[in-house]
Amino acid sequence: MMSKTNQQVSTFRVHPSLAIIKYWGKQDSVNNLPATPSLAFNLHGLYTETSVTLTDAQDRVLVNDQLADPPRYHQFFDNLRHVLGQDVHFDAISTNNFPTSAGLASSASGFAALTCACVKAAGAFLSPETLSGLARLGSASAARSLFGGFTLLPAGAEHAEQIFPEDHWPDLRVLIVQVAKEKKSISSRNAMEQTRLTSPYYTQWVASSQNLVQDAIAALEVRDLDRLGPIVRLSTMRMFGSMLGAEPPIVYWLPSSLVILRMCEDLRQKGISAWETMDAGPQVKILCEASDVATIESTIQDILPEATVLHSQPGGPPEEVAL
Ligand code: PMV
Repeated sequence: MMSKTNQQVSTFRVHPSLAIIKYWGKQDSVNNLPATPSLAFNLHGLYTETSVTLTDAQDRVLVNDQLADPPRYHQFFDNLRHVLGQDVHFDAISTNNFPTSAGLASSASGFAALTCACVKAAGAFLSPETLSGLARLGSASAARSLFGGFTLLPAGAEHAEQIFPEDHWPDLRVLIVQVAKEKKSISSRNAMEQTRLTSPYYTQWVASSQNLVQDAIAALEVRDLDRLGPIVRLSTMRMFGSMLGAEPPIVYWLPSSLVILRMCEDLRQKGISAWETMDAGPQVKILCEASDVATIESTIQDILPEATVLHSQPGGPPEEVAL
């Protein structure tokens, strides 16, 4: 048999997926199906770049030069081999141009890039929906990163879908306020299971998400930030409400996160549309219009000079990198 090593490397760049309506909790933890619908867009300018070669040895994933947690990848690779119908193994080298495991959705871009690069390295061509379903087994938010523009991952769905294209809202911007660079204390995977199993608020959180997503899609369709913003905030806060009710409670926020949340409220009082959202980490993402970026950024620098601010906007789908 011909050796699988020394074959051509396949490299993909994929953006992380920022949820404006949050996925938090699994309907089926074996198949990694989400309990809540999520609505998201890819973050332009931030990306994971993953290169894969086929190997005769075991599957291996290096993320930023560190061996990634193997048990998490077993099911992902086994399913990939099953769908490809090939008994192949993968050697992957992945880097992020933004902080890893810090609440910036590196697992979304990571598993999406890994999926694309493995499938290409194996010489297969699969539809974006199939790729999205494969990525979902690694991380449900990764199912969304497979598409550019605005994406929906319905509750219980096997794959995400694009609902508006990348150029749907050209003036929408997001400022990512990085208040800390260290890794999160508890992974989103473990934290959402802890919430599901122990929080009395979990059931209400799941039930309320369905209405929120419909309202958010309607606001998104007409590009109305002052209508969308309060819905995004509700989804964020209800998600954290469910976490605070867990035993033990899950708290990702830092004092500096609260400083930025309060700043958004103050800016809105002054007529500037700055709508905050947060994920499984202390960073705050602020949705705004392009014309307000400079004012919001200078306000952040005044009140929290140590924070790093990244600029982003809705981004595109995975891209193959020609080496
Ligand atoms: O897909 P995971 O396990 O990285 O979970 C993502 C959870 C949140 O980022 C908090 C919300 C979301 O929908 O992206």
